[in-house]
Amino acid sequence: MSNRPKITVVGAGNVGASCAAWMAERDLGDIILLDIPATKDMPKGKALDMQQVGPISGYNARLSGTTDYAATADSDICVITAGVPRKPGMSREDLVSINQGIVADVTKKIVASSPNVILIVVTNPLDTMCSVAYKSSSLPKHRVIGQAGVLDSARMRTFLAQAADVAVQNVTAAVIGGHGDEMVPLVRYCNIAGIPLTNLLKKERIDAIVERTRKGGGELVNLLGVSAWLAPGAAAGSMVEAILKDSKLVIPCSCYLEGEYGLKGMYFGVYAKLGRKGLEAVIEVPLNDEEKAMVKKSADLIQDTMKALK
Ligand code: APR
Repeated sequence: MSNRPKITVVGAGNVGASCAAWMAERDLGDIILLDIPATKDMPKGKALDMQQVGPISGYNARLSGTTDYAATADSDICVITAGVPRKPGMSREDLVSINQGIVADVTKKIVASSPNVILIVVTNPLDTMCSVAYKSSSLPKHRVIGQAGVLDSARMRTFLAQAADVAVQNVTAAVIGGHGDEMVPLVRYCNIAGIPLTNLLKKERIDAIVERTRKGGGELVNLLGVSAWLAPGAAAGSMVEAILKDSKLVIPCSCYLEGEYGLKGMYFGVYAKLGRKGLEAVIEVPLNDEEKAMVKKSADLIQDTMKALK
């Protein structure tokens, strides 16, 4: 036994394993990788492989793999990546019914033995799966948060840093809204070392980056044949880090809204402050008419997807 935080990752596939590896490198806590019995010893194998990186990288996090929820008891935090990934030609929305069943089942089992857990949902379609986890868990909204905006913003930051030929650390990008092609990149709130983008890049270049960011997931699906895993895993890991270290990090996350941006009773990507309690605040920023229209379109798309829920 150790006194390190206990982190469970459900779904030891591409995203789950990448997330676990990223968190282990930062020694965030002891990590349990859980998958379905049909995967047999795969979670154990992945955990053991990662454990043996410890002496090379210099971390002491203990990693274990399992198909048994008993091993996850009293987790501080749980990242849910269980589900079926998006295949080429398949929209996130196609995934709804399969992943709803998986996420609801996983959530109930995790919460049953970890009543104080904070859930980070990664399974797509993200905002809809967050609602499934929220409802199935009966946890308060500050303990059920979705990963989307960290990844979408990281993609936009990558493209902006490349276009401006500057360090990624100089680039702040703000992508709110649903995790889909109708996400809402807020160009007005992006900057390079505090300088508005429009001072450094031509409008056409910025527009092209906005478009590429919106289609960022699809671009990778087309290249890889399956959805991406390294950046999604790191994005979820960074949320776990902000929470366990009580960083008060402000990043875009999918949160349950109760009137913010005029939206109620649904999950939507917004600026959020993450700390030891989980979601510690939703930060609403003023939007102009064009941005409000984008938010509405994005929210409508999520509502549409939600209709596919059983
Ligand atoms: N309980 C636990 N694990 C499950 C369950 C379940 N009920 N159902 C499926 N899984 C596991 C699968 O066995 C698989 O190992 O979830 C894992 C998913 O891994 P991958 O198929 O490699 O998919 P991945 O690329 O990791 O994506 C997972 O994250 O970014 C999203 O769109 C992506 O929804 C997808 C999720």
